[in-house]
Amino acid sequence: MPKINLKLLKNQIKKAIGSAKDLKELNDIFKRYLGKRGELTQVLRSLEKLPKIRRAKVGKEANELKNFLRIKCDQKAIGIKEKIRKETAKIEWIDITRPGEKPVLGHLHPLSQVKNKAEEIFQLMGFSMVEGPEIETEWYNFDALNIPKDHPARDLWDTLWLKDNYKLKTKNYKLLLRTHTSPVQIRYMEKNNPPLRIIVPGRVFRHEATDASHEINFYQVEGLMVDKKVSVANFKAIIQEFFQKFFKKPIEIRLRPGYFPFTEPSFEVDMTCLTCGGKGCSVCSQTGWLEMMGAGMVHPNVFKAAGLNPKNWQGFAFGMGLDRLAMMKYKINDIRLFYSGDLRFLNQF
Ligand code: PHE
Repeated sequence: MPKINLKLLKNQIKKAIGSAKDLKELNDIFKRYLGKRGELTQVLRSLEKLPKIRRAKVGKEANELKNFLRIKCDQKAIGIKEKIRKETAKIEWIDITRPGEKPVLGHLHPLSQVKNKAEEIFQLMGFSMVEGPEIETEWYNFDALNIPKDHPARDLWDTLWLKDNYKLKTKNYKLLLRTHTSPVQIRYMEKNNPPLRIIVPGRVFRHEATDASHEINFYQVEGLMVDKKVSVANFKAIIQEFFQKFFKKPIEIRLRPGYFPFTEPSFEVDMTCLTCGGKGCSVCSQTGWLEMMGAGMVHPNVFKAAGLNPKNWQGFAFGMGLDRLAMMKYKINDIRLFYSGDLRFLNQF
């Protein structure tokens, strides 16, 4: 039985706690006395071995010492924490008058911005916005647009074919990634009677080698206006107005004869090259003009394919390259930049 000197123990405890510098030290002190094998714990455990009279006296004192240790430790901990708080407050403080940090906001892709602008301008001229599927049947992409199976015109659009077929009105058609937005002309006229004015922005796909002006996918805006009397003059006026509003300055356009199976007559639309102002430069191959879209008067067979009588209606259609438009507007010389996902490029818009 060790000699129990609680007074000595109390003095030791007092001293130890008094000199504790941080919470870890304080915790160690507590453990040293009241931990599993702590000095005071051992005293408390040995009480049962004492004769009854001593046990009561020593027990009372030991318990008082235990409470003393607890209270002193708690008080000291509060003191230490307060000291830490004061010290950190001295170094870590917030200047509430400082301007906040602005979160980095994303923004629309330049192609989306151009698409939105084009939609806005055409909507002001009474056109509605329509969309169609990117996976298309060969019927809508080719047949209904007056491009028969063996017609060489199919080669104009290098097609990405899908493995699956699709049953359309009892016939099986191959599926493909649409090569242009023109199939939406048919889809829309099947369900809606003229008079109509629509634009169809959307993504199209071509099986082509990529270079500065060709991508495997790009964007078009299809336009279609059908009424009793719609002429090439109407088309020219509307397109001129569109370019004027889009580029915010007078733009000259010209129509050149072209060929598309779904329009007759067909033409290519050029606009003055904005890089040189029409004088001729490398962007426009020294011609002063840039090709912006294909267009023409809707072919009678297209009306027929959509279930309309070509004798009752006439109209124009056009297909404009959105990427081309964006490249002109922002003077970008490589279409691949749009699809590179490079923030150094995208952050400029
Ligand atoms: N779909 C044609 C193309 O992608 C463009 C076009 C649309 C031409 C409408 C005439 C009429 O090349």
